[in-house]
Amino acid sequence: MKIGIDKIGFYAPDMYVDTEDLAHARGVEPGKFTVGIGQEKMAVAPKTQDAVTLAANAANNILTKEDIESIDYIIFATETGIDHSKAAAIYVQRLLGLNDYARSIEVKQACYSATAGVQMARGHIALNPDSKVLILASDISRYGLKTGGEITQGAGAVAMVISADPHVLAIEETSVYKTEDAMDFWRPLYSDYAYVQGKFSVDQYINFFQDLLDRYKEKTNRTFKDFSSILFHLPYTKMGLKALKSTLEHADEEDRERLLTNFDVSKRYNAIVGNIYTGSLYLSLLSLLERNTTINEGERVGLFSYGSGSVGEFLTGIVQPNYKDHLFTDQHDAMLNKRQKISVEQYEEMYEDKIPAGEGNVELDASNDPAPIRFTGIKEHMRQYENVSI
Ligand code: HMG
Repeated sequence: MKIGIDKIGFYAPDMYVDTEDLAHARGVEPGKFTVGIGQEKMAVAPKTQDAVTLAANAANNILTKEDIESIDYIIFATETGIDHSKAAAIYVQRLLGLNDYARSIEVKQACYSATAGVQMARGHIALNPDSKVLILASDISRYGLKTGGEITQGAGAVAMVISADPHVLAIEETSVYKTEDAMDFWRPLYSDYAYVQGKFSVDQYINFFQDLLDRYKEKTNRTFKDFSSILFHLPYTKMGLKALKSTLEHADEEDRERLLTNFDVSKRYNAIVGNIYTGSLYLSLLSLLERNTTINEGERVGLFSYGSGSVGEFLTGIVQPNYKDHLFTDQHDAMLNKRQKISVEQYEEMYEDKIPAGEGNVELDASNDPAPIRFTGIKEHMRQYENVSI
């Protein structure tokens, strides 16, 4: 039985900072951010968007009535969740009116956890072929103003429906994975910002990719010829490019050109959104599927998932017949095109304007947020949300 991605949707908040503006404000040569890091725009979340609303907005427009009835497992992957105890999936379940007879949980392992969700979903569908699983991968990435990691921030969410006989990408059975205790990036419970050993994290990422690709090739006897594209978790787009190039030394010209060309297509959305942590690899997949003009049914796509700390996995999928008919390209284009550019000063002001920790009652004005699903405040320590589309 084929199991995989039947639908894939995406949401980014309606504001961004131009990375050239950020470079000027930080006294950096713009080429470092646009070419050296490979980022053009950085999505900025307003106070009325959090991991829950970003995810709910990503899923809101892709689910049919039939999906809503069949989804019996909601897996929320995040590292910027809103509660130490209650799963963010439960809020989304209510906001979207999903089936009560569903299992709703949250999973965590830095940027890797959406892939853990995909693998858990595959197991669930294998046992329950008629059911569907909703995976939500949602994060707001923050390193702090004027830090080395600032240029690699972003915000957004990917929502995927995993089912039998998927319309978009069938996930293949064989994958290789690895865990190694490393302190390349982490965020202690008391901190709003990630701690990172930047250069070490880059080396760790590349080592994981090389090791897992070698292991995969050994296990399957496959070569670059078997892949139309290899996709990456993209904390910034140059990261994936560096990792890919590090393995292409012995590739022939045809493989090199195909993989680099398709990588270029796969980084489009990430370059204009930024690091969305858990959803980043799947945003890159979405970019490839929606923006390419050359990928046909039956082609194999490799996906390198990496979460600091560190867990990595190399998995693969086969593109399904007429997959373009099952994407939401126009919806995503419209959303991305109507975003507003904000100045670095506005971004800094928004960044500093936080709800103080422990505040039990807060009212937020969400009227300027064009997203249908918004965070509207806190009442007696309970977060309040609204969905104005229903
Ligand atoms: P940095 O020290 O500011 O940058 O840190 P750099 O000096 O390494 O320069 C970056 C690149 O820009 C270099 O190219 C320069 O040559 C180039 P490279 O050597 O990489 O090919 N450059 C220029 N290019 C064109 N024109 C110019 C110019 N000037 C310089 N004028 C760093 C960069 C990524 C370390 C920093 O931003 C950081 O710490 N980011 C956060 C950590 C991160 O994203 N790590 C990635 C791997 S870990 C991961 O992916 C997991 C993660 O998503 C978390 C999770 O799992 O939850 C982060």
